[in-house]
Amino acid sequence: ALRGSIALKAQKPNQRSYYGLQLQASYKVAILGAAGGIGQPLALLVKMSPLVSALNLYDIANVKGVAADLSHCNTPSQVLDFTGPDELGNCLKGVNVVVIPAGVPRKPGMTRDDLFNINANIVKTLVEAAADNCPDAFIHIISNPVNSTVPIAAEVLKQKGVYDPKKLFGVTTLDVVRANTFVAQKKNLKLIDVDVPVIGGHAGITILPLLSKTKPSVSFTDEEVEELTARIQNAGTEVVEAKAGAGSATLSMAYAAARFVESSLRALDGDGDVYECSYVQSDLTDLPFFASRIKLGRKGIEALIPSDLQGLSEYEEKALEALKPELKASIEKGIAFVQKQP
Ligand code: NAI
Repeated sequence: ALRGSIALKAQKPNQRSYYGLQLQASYKVAILGAAGGIGQPLALLVKMSPLVSALNLYDIANVKGVAADLSHCNTPSQVLDFTGPDELGNCLKGVNVVVIPAGVPRKPGMTRDDLFNINANIVKTLVEAAADNCPDAFIHIISNPVNSTVPIAAEVLKQKGVYDPKKLFGVTTLDVVRANTFVAQKKNLKLIDVDVPVIGGHAGITILPLLSKTKPSVSFTDEEVEELTARIQNAGTEVVEAKAGAGSATLSMAYAAARFVESSLRALDGDGDVYECSYVQSDLTDLPFFASRIKLGRKGIEALIPSDLQGLSEYEEKALEALKPELKASIEKGIAFVQKQP
């Protein structure tokens, strides 16, 4: 199955049927920034996963109540709370998947890059702690600007001597979720069947939905391609403007992040058929980081899937060339941020 999904039905304690398999709840997940707009609904969705035995919630404030509240749900995972830097190490010990939605979100008029100054430091500090306490974990970066925060995380992990490019992911699942939704609406397709790969990065024109690769195969007029591409690229801003100063996408982001967590856990659990799009270290283009479809396995990325990039439409070829300078600059900015520090 190309799509991830979350099992919501509780069955026998500690044993869940999932795609016909009997699965044990045995993985530890940590969410850093768990009291935030994304963190809270994400924690709820991960709490519903049949694969999770421990859910560690970290924030600099307000996480005790979130954990107390969630801990009453009768699903297998044990929920623990961790507040402030002194408790960060304990939050991360033995964890299999670390999800990082910590940091400030956009307000109307801001680009994701406007968040760099605050979020770069937050991501650096949190990834340093992950390197020290769970060097083998999958790390999911949600904090924006993802185009730069993932290269920051890679540099930090390199400095710590524990960088495994197969286990570091920029979460771009929301772009795919949006692309699938908007395409299904526009073309009157059954949503569950629609799969649109989204490549490049996670900001403005670096978000490149490959509409020509939509499954099931469907044709678009030039106008439809332009309109859908622009809507997918600006969907985050649509939400920022609708929230009018109260933040950016949180609920749809939590849904998308939970899907990526579930896909990672299924891969760790040995499911041999797990594919997602993610922004990762890549050699598919001349850029060192690039979002594409990947195959996930027990050890992280098993393969980057190059086929989506073959036979692009002329529109997509041009858009791909056009996004490269911006994405390159964002990558270099992230790398320089870590390297210039003493
Ligand atoms: P929010 O402000 O509601 O929550 C952020 C949380 O992070 C707060 O609870 C805050 O206390 C916590 N935090 C701040 N500094 C921290 C630190 N040093 N350690 C641990 N926690 C810390 O923001 P929201 O809406 O949850 O967004 C979080 C991030 O996710 C933003 O950077 C936003 O731009 C990004 N985002 C990414 C998307 C993607 O597709 N990758 C989509 C939507 C948002």
